[in-house]
Amino acid sequence: MVNTLSPKPYTLTMRVQEMAAGQLKLLERLRSAIKGTILTEEPLASHTYFRIGGPAEAMAFPADLGDLKLLLKMARDEAIPVLILGGGSNMLVLDGGVKGLVINLSRTFLELEVSGEQIRCGAGVRTSHLLAFSTMRGLMGFEGLTGVPGTVGGAIKGNAGTPLGAIIDRLDRLRLVDCSGEERVLSRDALGAGYRHTALPAGSVIVEACFTLQRGKSEEIRETMSRSLLKRNLTQPVEVRSAGCIFKNPPDDFAGRLVEYAGLKGLRRGGAQISEKHGNFIINLGGATAADVLWLIDRARAEVMVKTGVALELEIQVVGSPIAG
Ligand code: EPU
Repeated sequence: MVNTLSPKPYTLTMRVQEMAAGQLKLLERLRSAIKGTILTEEPLASHTYFRIGGPAEAMAFPADLGDLKLLLKMARDEAIPVLILGGGSNMLVLDGGVKGLVINLSRTFLELEVSGEQIRCGAGVRTSHLLAFSTMRGLMGFEGLTGVPGTVGGAIKGNAGTPLGAIIDRLDRLRLVDCSGEERVLSRDALGAGYRHTALPAGSVIVEACFTLQRGKSEEIRETMSRSLLKRNLTQPVEVRSAGCIFKNPPDDFAGRLVEYAGLKGLRRGGAQISEKHGNFIINLGGATAADVLWLIDRARAEVMVKTGVALELEIQVVGSPIAG
């Protein structure tokens, strides 16, 4: 008798299994290509100041510049989405996590060198460390970075600062790796920097920055910084988890003032709350989800628009998918 069994139909489960096998191969190839580490399903909540967010499908810690170039090149060739993570201080990761490759630079590019009034600094150096390093050497110009968390690379990307000044004010040039893994040096003028914004080439990663500061007295620099820190501690919820200021200040006004005017300070959703201390902060009281935070952001934007006509623009970077899958 002839066997009339028809071929097994190609099912969705088979496709998913194939994809999973392909991904595994890719992960193995990435792992064997670099000297650094690759983790899978790494909770991003552990890597952000907010302590919120789902997992990264893969998180790479490049050991050096060669690793970073390789990772960027492989990701481009395989069309894998890439997210660059510095200190995770200005970021909201959504609850479904981030698909593709997260490149964590907080353990790479940590060199710090001084020559006269110039400082050469790796992008992974903490802003607080850069500030302590320059102050100790009597170099002033970074006082605007007092209390600004995160890494130097992240601070440049968002042109972080305070009314005392922003990081780009002191920048001469930076070295980056573009999306095809090539190194480039850009001067400050080529960056198109503005308020809390730097127009870096798409997909590029800062690896090093050179700054020029001014001679000053360590004591005086410390005094300016202490005053700034004191004000910050008095006016901002520094004792709880947050992502810093949520919105950019609109021209000639302050986002915190507008949120307060809209009567939203103290508003709570799940484990998240609009700070009672400063209207431009959302704090994680414990167990907040990204959905809680987004709900508060939407509510603040809507109420401020209705009551003042001002459209608040996000300062933080929102990344990932709202739900897993
Ligand atoms: N204000 C209110 N209600 C509030 C908060 C503020 O009326 O709930 C008023 C204050 O009374 C003041 C004005 O708004 O008259 C400005 O407030 P503040 O001095 O606190 O400064 P800010 O503009 O809200 C900026 C930066 C902060 C930085 C401080 C340092 C932005 C978006 N924010 O805040 O940066 O620490 O100056 O003084 O540029 C960040 O970028 O993450 C950040 C926190």
